[in-house]
Amino acid sequence: MDGSRAPGGSSSGALPRFPAGFVWGVSTSAYQIEGAVDEDGRGRSVWDAFVERAGRVKDGSDGRVATGHYQRYREDVALIEELGVGAYRFSVAWPRVMPDGGPRVNAAGLDFYDRLVDALCAAGVRPVPTLFHWDTPEAVEAAGGWLERDTASRFAAYADAVAARLGDRVDRWITLNEPAELTLLGYGLGQHAPGRELGFGALPVAHHLLLGHGLAVQALRARGAGGIGIANSHGPTWAASESAADQEAAGLYDLLLNRLFAEPVLLGRYPEEELTAPLLSGTGPVDEDLRIIGEPLDWYGVNYYQPTKVGAPAAEGAGGGDFAGIELPPGLPFAPREIEGYPRTDFGWPVVPAALTELLTGFRDRYGDRLPPVVITENGCSYDGVGDRERIAFLDGHLRALHDAITAGVDVRGYFVWSLLDNFEWAEGYARRFGLVHVDYDTLVRTPKASYYWLRDALRAQR
Ligand code: FCB
Repeated sequence: MDGSRAPGGSSSGALPRFPAGFVWGVSTSAYQIEGAVDEDGRGRSVWDAFVERAGRVKDGSDGRVATGHYQRYREDVALIEELGVGAYRFSVAWPRVMPDGGPRVNAAGLDFYDRLVDALCAAGVRPVPTLFHWDTPEAVEAAGGWLERDTASRFAAYADAVAARLGDRVDRWITLNEPAELTLLGYGLGQHAPGRELGFGALPVAHHLLLGHGLAVQALRARGAGGIGIANSHGPTWAASESAADQEAAGLYDLLLNRLFAEPVLLGRYPEEELTAPLLSGTGPVDEDLRIIGEPLDWYGVNYYQPTKVGAPAAEGAGGGDFAGIELPPGLPFAPREIEGYPRTDFGWPVVPAALTELLTGFRDRYGDRLPPVVITENGCSYDGVGDRERIAFLDGHLRALHDAITAGVDVRGYFVWSLLDNFEWAEGYARRFGLVHVDYDTLVRTPKASYYWLRDALRAQR
């Protein structure tokens, strides 16, 4: 690795050249940008319900208007085109397509994505839909949500309906976004919708999400679709020290946040089965399910933001604590440790580009030829300013780190910035600005930030 780089990772000058055919893109998700929650027959999602509960979203906001993308999608497609990326990752809202969670299909909901896909194709931008970015229809949640095995089948039926409509123009699909976060934050800790606080009792959710992924892959393939992947969140776990207790604590954290979601998909089995299988029990025939979950993928999506440093709890019954803004309850067998010596984003997340190289080479070493080509489906940072020097340094540093991984032999095929626009950052509300484009939430006026122009110029230089 290039030792002349600052800990934040950036160095000046042109980016190294990425391989021919490398896909550049930007990412968003439906609830975070669309607004228009009552339009064209959309049903309610768990997020519509969650934001109504007092205190759940820090600034008391919600996604009713968000960035107004539902009306302004043409303007946003023009911004993407001008940026010069070749691909756009967005999510399809299940409750727009199936307001009752199925089986009734709302044609008007699909019409929106149809128009969006047409606009993208006309602009020469490849549409990369994510079928599920956390907005479970309220009706599905009322029937038990992802705690219910049947939700996996309902999701596959929805995937089929989307593929039937968009499949003629879409050749890259993402089934799920970050099942780990939905399991942990949505069902384990209650910090995201649907706001359940089940602790380890949430683990069947992980299994049903993964099963939903596998069934959706089958449904897409049955429609002749190719280019199928998943977007899993991953980050290296650093043990606080060499001590056996810290190593064990870090291993457990890594198991729950990384391996539990990667290995069923990549290897068709759960890691440490004797440990994890009982936690998933009551979920039906796990072995058969794993064959479905392990359906080979065309590529594997990684959302990367930061590493985590973990140690053994200071005392019996301690543990838990603040993991990068996520408050884990006491009593857990691991505890967060401060990562020192790196700049931080305005969200407080450490900026550690080299950890992206470490993550990817680590995946390659761990999974070998079971790892399909990798695409970074999200990477980005939250800073408040429009001036945006820090975001440029962040992107510059991470792209160099990504290039290092490619040089080290990892097959990486694409990189998507989170996010095109400032948007509704879940429980954080509108306070966190991840966009390359600033959004004025009073007027919905879009203003490209300095990082937008930096990326545009960097991509021009790549051509
Ligand atoms: C990821 C989510 C995405 C966004 C970024 C900051 O975990 O997939 O929607 O919130 O974090």
